[in-house]
Amino acid sequence: MNWQSGFNATEATFAPTLERWYEHHKRNLPWRHTRDPYRIWLSEIILQQTRVAQGKPYYERFVDTYPTVADMARADERDLLRLWQGLGYYSRARNLHQTARYVTNELDGKFPDSFRELLKMKGIGVYTAAAIASFAFGERVPVVDGNVYRVLARVFGIDEDITTTTAKKTFAALAVRLIESAGDPATYNQAIMEFGAIQCTPVAPDCLLCPLQQTCIAYLTGRQNRLPVKAKKAPVRDRFFNYLVFRNNDRVALRERTGRDVWQNLYDFCLAETDEPPGSIRDLTLTGSAGELVRQGQLMKEPIETIQLLSHQRIRAVFYEISVPDALIGQLPAGLQWYSMEQAEQLPKPVLVTNYLEKGFG
Ligand code: ADE
Ligand code: SF4
Repeated sequence: MNWQSGFNATEATFAPTLERWYEHHKRNLPWRHTRDPYRIWLSEIILQQTRVAQGKPYYERFVDTYPTVADMARADERDLLRLWQGLGYYSRARNLHQTARYVTNELDGKFPDSFRELLKMKGIGVYTAAAIASFAFGERVPVVDGNVYRVLARVFGIDEDITTTTAKKTFAALAVRLIESAGDPATYNQAIMEFGAIQCTPVAPDCLLCPLQQTCIAYLTGRQNRLPVKAKKAPVRDRFFNYLVFRNNDRVALRERTGRDVWQNLYDFCLAETDEPPGSIRDLTLTGSAGELVRQGQLMKEPIETIQLLSHQRIRAVFYEISVPDALIGQLPAGLQWYSMEQAEQLPKPVLVTNYLEKGFG
């Protein structure tokens, strides 16, 4: 290691300082008294769902009921889900069960013992794999979670937005360098999380009694409350799509979506977007041939409503299915064309249009 590789004094002393701090301040938590990968895995999955105080009794009940991975593998899924009750996100509990069975039946009851192998397990992501690999097997891989982002952003004055891929790479690379100086990777990983949980807290970190005070960039520049930088999620915009599903016998009118909006180049129906949810089809202000077709055609059934969530939009769609008389089939609004159901099936469509054609249409 030399000065050209970006190594500096703060990086070199960071891990040993946290390890020393941890020996004096660590909470006595049940999963810290074991090197059993099964129990460590279990504790980490529970702690992804809830805080330490609430997670502790769950962990204890699970370990009492299923002391080993083989016991969990044999469990009745309903019993396991009942123990999980209150933690939410039940797919996590099912993954737990599946992974326990996999380890028991396919891996001879032996948990994978490296970061790389752990990552292949269902429900075990980068964070959990690093936690198990270091706590159970002493592997030198850093855990990186919200606590770690906060501590590193403050101590090293990193003001990159932690929601971006570039920032995640910056933090991951720094974390890899820092764990190099740790005496024991397991202790260091517990230490940095504990430090984030009880010393360098999100609000009002305890800087006055902090062992990193002298080198902490956030403290030295008074930016504790501004680091880490996290972009606010764009607010979700509500949109109301009123679809006029024009039909003629077994044909349906679709058009390709052009323009700079959602679902570019996908096909949907004649669309009247409104700022408010309309009460009925009569509330829509329809001009030109769309209005004409609605007036001359026949509403075939109760409108069907659905919601699709996109990352920044909540689209509420109402489908009005309208039978168009033969005499008017040449008067579709611009862009729309008639397609047979077989043709319509082949076109690329937004999920809610596909669902409508499969389930709501008829
Ligand atoms: N949160 C997630 N993992 C934890 C652990 N091992 N100890 C304390 N809090 C945690
Ligand atoms: Fe966190 Fe304050 Fe310590 Fe810096 S000085 S690491 S902001 S507690």
